[in-house]
Amino acid sequence: MSFLNQITDANVLIVGASQGIGLGFVQKFLQDQRIAKIYATYRESASELITLESENAEKLTCLQIDITEESQIIEAVQKIRAEVNKLNFAINCVGLLHDETIQPEKSLRQINSDNLLRYFQVNSIGSVLLAKHLLPLFRHQERNIFATISAKVGSIGDNQLGGWYGYRASKAALNMFMRTVAIEYGRNSPKTIVVTLHPGTTDTRLSRPFQSNVPAEKLFSVERTVSQLLAVIEQLKQEDSGQFFSWDGSRLPW
Ligand SMILES: NC(=O)c1ccc[n+]([C@@H]2O[C@H](COP(=O)([O-])OP(=O)(O)OC[C@H]3O[C@@H](n4cnc5c(N)ncnc54)[C@H](OP(=O)(O)O)[C@@H]3O)[C@@H](O)[C@H]2O)c1
Repeated sequence: MSFLNQITDANVLIVGASQGIGLGFVQKFLQDQRIAKIYATYRESASELITLESENAEKLTCLQIDITEESQIIEAVQKIRAEVNKLNFAINCVGLLHDETIQPEKSLRQINSDNLLRYFQVNSIGSVLLAKHLLPLFRHQERNIFATISAKVGSIGDNQLGGWYGYRASKAALNMFMRTVAIEYGRNSPKTIVVTLHPGTTDTRLSRPFQSNVPAEKLFSVERTVSQLLAVIEQLKQEDSGQFFSWDGSRLPW
């Protein structure tokens, strides 16, 4: 049975909800009667998300988190804990592939240590900081899930193409962090299932510059990706904790 069907008044947290897949989760959960409360985080600006908050003030609360700032994670978690004593589902949708200053490396010539550090700060370290501070909200008697969106290109075993050093390595590090978190949570928060998920190529800002080689049927809308990931999430069992799943529910190699 789906895990959300076993819970009354579920509380959920979506980190990185200003746009893309994270915003898609917020939109989906606003329609879901099983969800009592949605906490959604954004970094700087998030006009669509803030509009949703004003239209759904009872259900949706927005909080500011730059995932590279531990103090902001602590502050947001404190605000959540002031209102509720449990989370049933949290998903970290934060990710960086390119921005105004960073482009994924095509070759060793483009390796730049500041850019690599930025990839690791955003794509890897943020999630383990969340795991550190969210633990008290997961330690309750209902089943709960802590998911992080990773990427198949972070699979070492699957890497045939090369390139994208920083993004690939930071997602591989993310996978190791969350696998390690799953082991510690298994002892300290045994009702929590910790997973990393590959969403498939999805039509968002992140993939936009790289979509030209993607066949149309392999480029998912955000709505489709959210539905596919939720179908995977709803079927997760305790023994799946620590695993890396693709959007179709298959296991990915490390
Ligand atoms: N789209 C794809 O094809 C694809 C494929 C594989 C994996 N993924 C993964 O899927 C996840 C979601 O990506 P997306 O496609 O939805 O991309 P997106 O539309 O670019 O969204 C990325 C999100 O991360 C947030 N973010 C970036 N840096 C941050 C920071 N320092 N602190 C807090 N938030 C930060 C962004 O906030 P701002 O709006 O403030 O920048 C935005 O909300 C990422 O982990 C990505 O690596 C995506």
